[in-house]
Amino acid sequence: MATYDLVVIGTGPGGYVCAVRASQLGMKAAVVEKNATLGGTCLNVGCMPSKALLYASEMFEEAGHSFAKMGVSVSAPKLDLPSMMNFKQQGIDGNVKGVEFLMKKNKIDVLKGTGKILGTGKVEISADGKSQVVETRSIVIATGSDIARLKGIEIDETRIVSSTGALSLDKVPGKLLIVGAGVIGLELGSVWHRLGAEVVVVEFLDRILPGMDGEIAKQFQRILEKQGFAFKLGAKVTGVDTSGKMLKARVEPAAGGAAETLEADVVLVCIGRAPYTDGLGLKEAGVALDNRGRVQIDPHFATSVKGVYAIGDVVAGPMLAHKAEDEGVAVAEIIAGQAGHVNYDVIPGVVYTTPEVSCVGKTEEELKQAGVAYTVGKFPFTANGRSKVNQTTDGFVKILADAKTDRVLGVHIIGREAGEMIHEAAVLMEFGGSAEDLARTCHAHPTRSEAIKEAALAVGKRAIHM
Ligand code: FAD
Ligand code: NAI
Repeated sequence: MATYDLVVIGTGPGGYVCAVRASQLGMKAAVVEKNATLGGTCLNVGCMPSKALLYASEMFEEAGHSFAKMGVSVSAPKLDLPSMMNFKQQGIDGNVKGVEFLMKKNKIDVLKGTGKILGTGKVEISADGKSQVVETRSIVIATGSDIARLKGIEIDETRIVSSTGALSLDKVPGKLLIVGAGVIGLELGSVWHRLGAEVVVVEFLDRILPGMDGEIAKQFQRILEKQGFAFKLGAKVTGVDTSGKMLKARVEPAAGGAAETLEADVVLVCIGRAPYTDGLGLKEAGVALDNRGRVQIDPHFATSVKGVYAIGDVVAGPMLAHKAEDEGVAVAEIIAGQAGHVNYDVIPGVVYTTPEVSCVGKTEEELKQAGVAYTVGKFPFTANGRSKVNQTTDGFVKILADAKTDRVLGVHIIGREAGEMIHEAAVLMEFGGSAEDLARTCHAHPTRSEAIKEAALAVGKRAIHM
């Protein structure tokens, strides 16, 4: 029987990163993966394919709508969807190969099959009707999440799709109905809208992007509407009739009232994701779940069974690849006897649309609810030189700082490249920095990041360019 110091179940960004860190710390590690390829949701049907399509569709959109005003004259771009899908697949393959390389480089065994925990120190791996059992000092559950389903609406991944089907449509839908105005709905909605689909988003709440700063979400909704998105807020889809050529979705006000019917070629259901624990044998092994079906852990990622830990989408917290990765590193360090730690107050979030939306730390709503006195500094990209010359002035930077100490508590950006810009705020917040620190840091000119410095100056009511 093979013996290991650590067996990680799942090779998403949480699992494979955990195994690499464990190997760096001198542990003999193995990963277990039931899918044909390594990399989990993120590499295969999540972050990577969606970003490839977002990039390619943005280029299509730019070629069709932005080149001419810069004096670049091209004929109307034509969509070659199979080639775009091939571009996406190349990106997936390259990243999956990268993970395979990392496993080899770090001498991590890859055990293909479904992992089941038999109790402390024992994992059974089954594939193609055969199984083997390995012994290990520690086990990390990194089995991620799966799509959440809507009762009574069957996802066939062709006409009624989850994000997985929406990443592989074989033609641009004439009408795309999206259920859920969260990150997936707005990102994949952007992809297909840019490629020509008419997009209607039905959202249960009275706002888009719940959890993000309200003011940012409002402005983002206006920008998306200007682009051509239609929103039905405070509404829910209660059924989809698939009998005709067009799908007929029954849409009801969330608060009750008369239903309406919306036609669509494709319906995308993206109402969140659910922790994935099927086949792990958690009940028999005695691993406790919380009331939302997530593996329950203590602050050191330990489950209710000795030597069994859990990280990533399968535990509480934001379902983000970088959160899973940081937890993977932290738990490997804890198992090695070190002080692994994740600062949940400083986890950036990015929506990779055009413009992008990014955030780190608290929203205004959260500060109000916690009764924290804060000051706000805002700076619009319309007043940022680089944005003006590029004619990409949508959006603004918003900084929330403690009214007494000036410590930065939250930064929210809507604008081009906001996803890259957020990290100077994250570093500042990791070091407990103030708006004054940010305002006195020299920023290169002309950059979009100068808008962050100006927003920090605006906290002290002394922005220069506004
Ligand atoms: P996963 O990546 O889900 O990996 C879990 C792995 O475990 C899978 O490979 C699965 O096959 C395997 N597994 C499960 N059970 C077993 C078992 N019993 N035995 C063996 N193997 C098993 N996050 C971002 O931060 N940025 C983004 O841009 C982003 N975009 C996304 C776009 C989409 C369309 C989706 C769906 C998600 C996106 N996410 C994004 C979220 C991100 O993909 C997840 O947060 C991340 O993948 C979680 O990592 P994980 O390691 O916890 O689990
Ligand atoms: P989400 O939680 O972001 O959004 C789901 C939306 O659906 C919410 O606005 C919710 O109010 C709404 N909703 C729920 N039930 C509904 C109903 N019956 N009818 C209408 N609306 C309903 O979930 P989403 O977009 O599915 O994404 C899943 C996860 O994947 C997220 O947690 C996200 O963090 C992650 N992800 C991250 C990305 C990124 O970081 N850029 C990109 C894509 C996904």
